[in-house]
Amino acid sequence: MQQIEHRYGDGIADPFRSVRCRGGRQRDSDAVRRTPRARLPVASRGAMRPAMATGELRFERQHLLGIEGLEAGEIEYLLDLADGFVELNRQSEKKLQLLRGRTLVNLFFEPSTRTQTSFELAGKRLGADVVNMAVARSSVVKGETLIDTAMTLNAMHPDLLVVRHHESGAVALLARHVRCAVVNAGDGAHEHPTQALLDALTIRRRKGRIAGLTVAICGDILHSRVARSNILLLRTMGARVRVVAPPTLLPAAVESLGVEAVTDMRRGLEDADIVMMLRLQSERMQGSLVPSVREYFHFFGLTHDKLRAARPDAMIMHPGPMNRGVEIDGPVADDINRSAILDQVEMGVAVRMAVLDALTRRLRANR
Ligand code: NCD
Repeated sequence: MQQIEHRYGDGIADPFRSVRCRGGRQRDSDAVRRTPRARLPVASRGAMRPAMATGELRFERQHLLGIEGLEAGEIEYLLDLADGFVELNRQSEKKLQLLRGRTLVNLFFEPSTRTQTSFELAGKRLGADVVNMAVARSSVVKGETLIDTAMTLNAMHPDLLVVRHHESGAVALLARHVRCAVVNAGDGAHEHPTQALLDALTIRRRKGRIAGLTVAICGDILHSRVARSNILLLRTMGARVRVVAPPTLLPAAVESLGVEAVTDMRRGLEDADIVMMLRLQSERMQGSLVPSVREYFHFFGLTHDKLRAARPDAMIMHPGPMNRGVEIDGPVADDINRSAILDQVEMGVAVRMAVLDALTRRLRANR
């Protein structure tokens, strides 16, 4: 990463006091402006998965394109469903036949290891035929448009299409041109709904609830679809959300999403129940938005020392891939008492099974 002029520490007198957002507006860095929203009932672990047994249809949407617009009841339903799959995945016999005869196509236009593997395992464990389309070797590199790719795939009658794309909105556009159910596996800096759901499941299982918790989401908020989907979900479920980042990595008017924006890491972590770290999304940055990796780590990297500001039982999360020594110190990531990072990976498979199950219930009902 290039050096840029301003520095967080010694260069300029407290650059965090007054923040210039993208869009040029001045605002107080510690301004708290929360969108008033009714507190929702605690999403408890108690009501585990009645839905799995009854096969009831409580998620009526054709696609999962984002968290935006989902109601608390729909989120809870998916989490309850996923809870049951967690137990299934821990057994030696993991295979169900719920999606037998159904075809799932993974269409990833961006590199991915955990998300693509997670969807592949989820589909296979439910009995679907899963195809991973190798975009790098597909007609896309020969200039085919997204819509042509979608219509070609549609002609092969898949039942589920899981799509990741570098452009925000591309997955929703594609969904308008196919007949099958579409799941957004991450579109640009827009949304990554299954990541937010798996994070919610991890929190709910560890803390027993989501409502009333204070969640600090730290790092590159500006470019993060994970941050956006998490903010939407956590606010809907009644958590308090704080975004913690240098001013250059905060979106303009982020408070309009009902979060508190803080540019000092220790202040941002104060009394947090959950500390969610994010990678610097260099691939989406235009120009350099941090002075240097070393400086970034010094001010915003999560260390045991900074973590002292959070609650003693604060849980650490990261969607991966992690950059140790950049946004998180290795020993913190590996701290088995605090880190839930591998739990998140485990919950990912269960949540994706729940989403695939929920989206195909209607198909199965009309079989
Ligand atoms: C995230 C993504 O792709 O948005 N990763 C993931 O899905 N596990 C976060 C990231 O890339 O930093």
